[in-house]
Amino acid sequence: MLATDIDSATASAAAAGGAEKRAYVKRIFSEIAPRYDLLNHVLSLNIDRRWRRKAIASLGVERDLAGRYLDLCAGTMDVAAEVSRLPRFRGVVIGADFAEPMLRAGAQKIRGSAIAPVTADAVQLPIASGQLAGAIVAFGIRNVAGLDDALREALRVLVPGGRFVILEFSTPRMRLLRVLYQFYFHHVLPLIGRLISGHRTAYQYLPRSVANFPVEEELGRRMEAAGFTKVSWSSLSFGVAAIHVGERPLNGRK
Ligand SMILES: C[S@@+](CC[C@H](N)C(=O)[O-])C[C@H]1O[C@@H](n2cnc3c(N)ncnc32)[C@H](O)[C@@H]1O
Repeated sequence: MLATDIDSATASAAAAGGAEKRAYVKRIFSEIAPRYDLLNHVLSLNIDRRWRRKAIASLGVERDLAGRYLDLCAGTMDVAAEVSRLPRFRGVVIGADFAEPMLRAGAQKIRGSAIAPVTADAVQLPIASGQLAGAIVAFGIRNVAGLDDALREALRVLVPGGRFVILEFSTPRMRLLRVLYQFYFHHVLPLIGRLISGHRTAYQYLPRSVANFPVEEELGRRMEAAGFTKVSWSSLSFGVAAIHVGERPLNGRK
């Protein structure tokens, strides 16, 4: 079946989670990969670059400039590329994503840098436990079928004291802003997304997946339940996005 045969009901069901979600998400990102970067910057009015840099600043790379880091759900590897360009960085960044076309679409931007792209699922990483100085996921965790499994997996691969940073969309709390945001997200964004990507449902899935994703407090609780300590979060652009940070405990059970 072609992606264009998938109707918006499927996008809705996929956004809610479950087995359908994994296959749907992998397929839409594989299909929109060639236009992903362009659409990202157009639809976010380029604010996404600033948000990514802020999230990377929370990773604490200066604590271990020679360490190994993970860009989870790396997509076209914008985050991995930024981390590898940090001043005095001499470590390695693993860019993990289960949609290989996304990694391929970003191949150009990582040429000559210490980035290792890996095709892998966030809930089952091919990385030994306790290896990574830090991990970061930008606009990816919302798409993973099995949020709690992915959080536990991120914790597993970190060294004790290693940080996990989550940059993700959220929903503004101020009423007027929320109304404007939801109009843009549910009406303008799917239209532009469809025009540029030629994909009928991918940009309907996006606002639905945000609506189904836990709000900041709930995500913070889920991180703690997964075993993270020192969990904190901050809002970006009046609540349009948020950054969560947690650490693997120094005396963790894993
Ligand atoms: C919105 S893109 C974000 C890409 C990139 N991090 C960025 O900042 O632009 C979401 C990415 O998550 C990936 N993804 C979703 N679920 C995944 C999973 N279970 N395992 C690995 N990657 C996944 C998708 O393939 C897609 O490339």
